[in-house]
Amino acid sequence: MSLDIFTKTKPTIKPISISFNTLSLNKVDSIFLLESQNSEHPWSKNQLSESIKNPNNVGYSLSLDGQIIGFVIAMTAVDTADILNIGINPKYQKKGHGKSLFVYLIKELKYRGIKDILLEVRKSNIQAIKFYLRLGFEKISVRKNYYMKNSNQLSERDDGIIMRLEI
Ligand SMILES: CC(C)(COP(=O)(O)OP(=O)(O)OC[C@H]1O[C@@H](n2cnc3c(N)ncnc32)[C@H](O)[C@@H]1OP(=O)(O)O)[C@@H](O)C(=O)NCCC(=O)NCCS
Repeated sequence: MSLDIFTKTKPTIKPISISFNTLSLNKVDSIFLLESQNSEHPWSKNQLSESIKNPNNVGYSLSLDGQIIGFVIAMTAVDTADILNIGINPKYQKKGHGKSLFVYLIKELKYRGIKDILLEVRKSNIQAIKFYLRLGFEKISVRKNYYMKNSNQLSERDDGIIMRLEI
């Protein structure tokens, strides 16, 4: 009897399924939602669609139990890739998902013969800069006043930090 009770009351732990998938046009709405949650200057659905359709680009989504919680898009040229966009649903940030998506991307890029990854990030996006530094990126240069903030005034502009990772 005690064994019976034990087996009936034993907590069941349901493993979470994590999957990485190539971005396709039918995911644009989900990616747009993530973009809007993450950025004051989100890409439009049209920009996302064009980016996904571009044959030089590679993009992946990360899903937890079938729900898309992250995405990354990179543009490839010969042996270099530029990160165009990356985002993790704010509710799931700082739990290692951005890193696992990036590690997946690196594996795919290596398979395609990519040797260097470059990206540009707003100087004020401290969270993203820390994330890239943890992944091993180094700062290689600064583009002064590259990003607009809320107006077109020079004083209202943000520098762009260019970072590089050899893979
Ligand atoms: C940047 C972003 C993709 C990181 O994803 P994430 O899932 O939160 O990051 P992870 O949890 O995988 O963190 C990976 C590493 O970065 C570090 N990190 C992430 N966010 C950090 C923060 N806010 N402060 C300090 N370190 C941070 C983590 O500590 C972790 O290091 P560890 O491996 O030693 O533990 C995510 O914050 C995001 O979507 N931001 C909004 C969109 C954006 O800014 N995109 C970049 C545009 S250039």
